[in-house]
Amino acid sequence: MALKGKVTVVGAGFYGSTTALRLAEYNIFETVVLTDIVEGKPEGLALDMNQSRPIEGFETKIIGATTTPDGAGYEATANSDVVVITAGLPRKPGMSRMDLIGVNAGIVRGVAENIAKHSPSAVIIVVSNPLDEMTALAQLATGFPKHQVMGQAGMLDTARFTNFVAEKVGVPVGSVKTLTLGSHGETMVPVPSRCTVDGKPLSEILSEADIAELVDRTRNGGAEVVALLKTGSAYYAPSAAAARMAKAVIEDSGAIMPVCAWVEGQYGIEGVYLGVEAEIGKNGIRKVIESSLTASEVEALKVAAEAVRAKQADVKDL
Ligand code: NAI
Ligand code: 2OP
Repeated sequence: MALKGKVTVVGAGFYGSTTALRLAEYNIFETVVLTDIVEGKPEGLALDMNQSRPIEGFETKIIGATTTPDGAGYEATANSDVVVITAGLPRKPGMSRMDLIGVNAGIVRGVAENIAKHSPSAVIIVVSNPLDEMTALAQLATGFPKHQVMGQAGMLDTARFTNFVAEKVGVPVGSVKTLTLGSHGETMVPVPSRCTVDGKPLSEILSEADIAELVDRTRNGGAEVVALLKTGSAYYAPSAAAARMAKAVIEDSGAIMPVCAWVEGQYGIEGVYLGVEAEIGKNGIRKVIESSLTASEVEALKVAAEAVRAKQADVKDL
């Protein structure tokens, strides 16, 4: 199959570099651009990744480019089809994602403005934390239509939930379906009513107490990794999640994924970026899917919407 399209990953830290390599290893993109403000880091990582191509057998070319916050170096990203924004600090043990809002807002705003100048048609996938707020900020700073900007959280949180269920029940992850919506924070909404093992409802397989424990572990999935690592946060599962979203965009696949998307009326929620299921295509979000949830799950989603709405209103001033 002919390679096509250009994807840029901004931020060559743990999340960005693993995402760039995953995207290149798909062997579907013509070019993967990796940028960072640390001079030489993206170029060095790109050189190393390109040298893995003969071993792993992929032809996608990786280009590393040092950028500055005032926009130098962004020419390398020009006319990207997709941009994944990973620039920003990760949290330390004991910190919440929200503790990062001040510093990461400055970084994400600058990155988003520079990207908008050079790639006005790009679909933006934000991963920097706090995720729901940084997604709203990237949309404001780019001025792009809301469907063109989305955030990555639900794919990751759902994968964590699936992994925990599979381990608890002792089945392959492929037998398990789960779903996690809401915010990428304290008001995350794992959705037990949508969880199945080999097609059977989870409630027929595990007790209420066991399900509640897995829901809780999913909500704290990021913090559990941070506490073990001591410095930095998770990146293998997170990069897999963002890379799959970028792949769905470039393939215009119509895949339905849990992502942070602009919600306009679905579930009775109006005008906020929130974790929901959405159909992904070449222009970003084709449509938000309103699927069947229990009354208490819808209520939890509304609580999440109000929690992130308040913070999203603040980001315009950051
Ligand atoms: P990291 O510290 O390894 O890398 C961040 C990189 O961003 C650094 O290399 C830094 O030099 C770069 N950077 C800073 N300012 C920049 C700018 N203006 N332009 C370009 N690059 C810039 O951190 P890591 O682990 O890669 O995490 C990145 C972000 O992703 C954090 O905010 C973290 O909380 C978030 N994250 C989000 C997840 C999600 O599910 N949405 C999951 C995991 C992490
Ligand atoms: C995670 O969930 C820290 O948001 C990051 O792993």
